[in-house]
Amino acid sequence: MARRVLVTGGAGFIGSHIVEAYLAAGWDVTALDDLSRGKASQVPAGVPLIVADIRSDLARSTAATGGFEVLNHHAAQIDVRYSVEHPSADADINIAGFVNMLEGAASGGVRRVVFASSGGVVYGNPDVIPTPETAPKGPVSPYGVSKLAGEHYLRALGALHAFEGVALRYANVCGPRQDPKSEAGVVSIFVSRLLAGQPLSIFGDGKQTRDYVSVKDVARANVLASGAVLPTDDDHDARAFNIATGVERTVLDLAEAAGRVTGRKPELRMEAARPGEILRSALDVKKAADVLGWRPEVTFDAGLAMLMDWFRTEG
Ligand SMILES: NC(=O)c1ccc[n+]([C@@H]2O[C@H](COP(=O)([O-])OP(=O)(O)OC[C@H]3O[C@@H](n4cnc5c(N)ncnc54)[C@H](O)[C@@H]3O)[C@@H](O)[C@H]2O)c1
Repeated sequence: MARRVLVTGGAGFIGSHIVEAYLAAGWDVTALDDLSRGKASQVPAGVPLIVADIRSDLARSTAATGGFEVLNHHAAQIDVRYSVEHPSADADINIAGFVNMLEGAASGGVRRVVFASSGGVVYGNPDVIPTPETAPKGPVSPYGVSKLAGEHYLRALGALHAFEGVALRYANVCGPRQDPKSEAGVVSIFVSRLLAGQPLSIFGDGKQTRDYVSVKDVARANVLASGAVLPTDDDHDARAFNIATGVERTVLDLAEAAGRVTGRKPELRMEAARPGEILRSALDVKKAADVLGWRPEVTFDAGLAMLMDWFRTEG
């Protein structure tokens, strides 16, 4: 019998790719999403979509009664700036909503929970780059705090209810279906603006770095994390994995690469630096390779080309 998984946020950018990756690996998949940002059309045909808020009784009872082996949790409020302006609303979705799903999973006998955390925010301004999982945690935004709190609930409730929790700490994820209007999607913003013949805004000197990972590689990591044998030690980071490339790229590098791939010369508009912006970010991915058998496979230019093709046909 096929293994059953519930993917929350399954109509969203990353979640919809994860649904596809589970299907390709032979899983029986159900998606759950309130469609606040996701689109029903992004859920593959034949996959049941439960339209529900993760804070609701319906979402919790779905996790409790669906006979799922794995809960894959990607539904979230993802906007850092919104979290700064509305910290309690962010915590309500990202912490209380997640705990609601964990309660459902615990009573439904779910064996493993895979949680979308963020390596871009839980470490704050790290001293070591590429940053390993064991680096000190120091989130500076309410969103970062909500992701780290989610990891703690995952570990504590997993120990209490005998399910295994895995936290995947993503770098900047990019690829088809990323909303170019979202704050998180600088790659998507640059490619869509270049294709529309518009200038690119660079905040500060453009030398701030990020680690960009393809959504296809992220989706594959989720399937691997659903079946891998996990470490049994009980420290906070034991079952957390950076999912990234380990490569630092400046925003100026990104603009240049996006210009090369789209065949358009980028016109740069220099703007004031954003206060509080993290200056450097790249994550060490050795542990994901050693334990999950995962390595990034999509090259940066191939990822940009995939995004460009998507904008040209469907975006
Ligand atoms: N995009 C990135 O670079 C990145 C990096 C690190 C972590 N993440 C995490 O990955 C996950 C997916 O992010 P994404 O970039 O695909 O964003 P997204 O907005 O496309 O996906 C989130 C999905 O959750 C749904 N959702 C939001 N609130 C909900 C609620 N209360 N109940 C039910 N569904 C709800 C939305 O409709 C959407 O489909 C999030 O948990 C995010 O924090 C993303």
